[in-house]
Amino acid sequence: MSADCVVVTGGAGFIGSHVVDRLLEIGFKVVVVDDFSAGSMANLEDASRYGSQLQVVQQDIASKDLQLLMERVTPRFVFHLAAQADVRRSMSDPLGDALVNVVGSLNVIESSYRFGVERLVYSASGGTLYGEPDLSLLPLTESARHHPLSNYGVSKKAVLDYLAAYGSLYGMEYVALALANVYGPRQDPHGESGVVSIFAGNLVSDQPSVIFGDGEQTRDFVYVADVVDAFVRSLDAGAGELFNIASSRETSVNELYWEMARLQGSVLEPKYLPGRTGELKRSCLSNQKACEILQWEPTVAMNEGLSRVIKWVRDKS
Ligand SMILES: NC(=O)c1ccc[n+]([C@@H]2O[C@H](COP(=O)([O-])OP(=O)(O)OC[C@H]3O[C@@H](n4cnc5c(N)ncnc54)[C@H](O)[C@@H]3O)[C@@H](O)[C@H]2O)c1
Repeated sequence: MSADCVVVTGGAGFIGSHVVDRLLEIGFKVVVVDDFSAGSMANLEDASRYGSQLQVVQQDIASKDLQLLMERVTPRFVFHLAAQADVRRSMSDPLGDALVNVVGSLNVIESSYRFGVERLVYSASGGTLYGEPDLSLLPLTESARHHPLSNYGVSKKAVLDYLAAYGSLYGMEYVALALANVYGPRQDPHGESGVVSIFAGNLVSDQPSVIFGDGEQTRDFVYVADVVDAFVRSLDAGAGELFNIASSRETSVNELYWEMARLQGSVLEPKYLPGRTGELKRSCLSNQKACEILQWEPTVAMNEGLSRVIKWVRDKS
């Protein structure tokens, strides 16, 4: 494989497939490594138009075979997005979560180091890394205490420590992006985390949505195209750093619901159920460091991003 090749782990997933589209668009060859446990070939439909510029390998990142693949491909860059990305599953199956998110990630890091990858860009989790925040510190900067309160948060955080160690010990170049709540087309509405696509699916099919708790809990929503832009900028800036990739705006679940209902022209009331244990009350991350060092900023306004998701759901239903 040539010097302009990028391996994208988790490239058949929601965010990974958008990253793949963009890398192909700007001229890279892309090798997707995905076990298809959550991702799908449908997400790579646009990418497959690029013919042999795209290779898709069904492969578990925790398998030893990953090293053989990396040796064969010798990519210039690795974007590591493959993960067990379900917080609740990490609580019911902590070992399964760690096997992918810790052991699998270490396998990606070790084989990247061993086969001379120029830079590894990792998708960390800004929504879980900091745990329950000290509200006086919102929006949280990257220097806030890293104190995840779920097995998923811990497994995603462990990778930051491995990256820092490989950086210090071997000079391996990496960038870690602590993503806030990412939303956009291709997000799985059947998962736990995609509240935007769950609401979109329900509103388009005129079904009531469920809100857990009073709906006043806030999240920091960032549109997937902006996240992709942060990945691309990380190729040549910010080595050895962690960046929050976030809108730095708090939106309550109630506000989100009613904005989406307005866009869909619906007046359907949501159903409220008791709040779920362990759910954060508020979440908002400062994007100042990414703005300064990656020259990144979110460009897609919330109503525009939400309209695009609703259109995507309508088109496929
Ligand atoms: N969606 C968000 O809001 C968000 C926020 C913060 C961080 N992240 C991180 O971004 C990354 C992508 O998340 P997403 O929302 O696109 O999730 P996703 O589930 O759509 O994508 C993850 C991909 O990884 C693949 N995968 C899972 N286990 C694998 C394994 N053992 N080997 C190979 N591939 C495997 C899945 O099949 C899937 O295609 C993850 O690392 C996640 O932790 C996501």
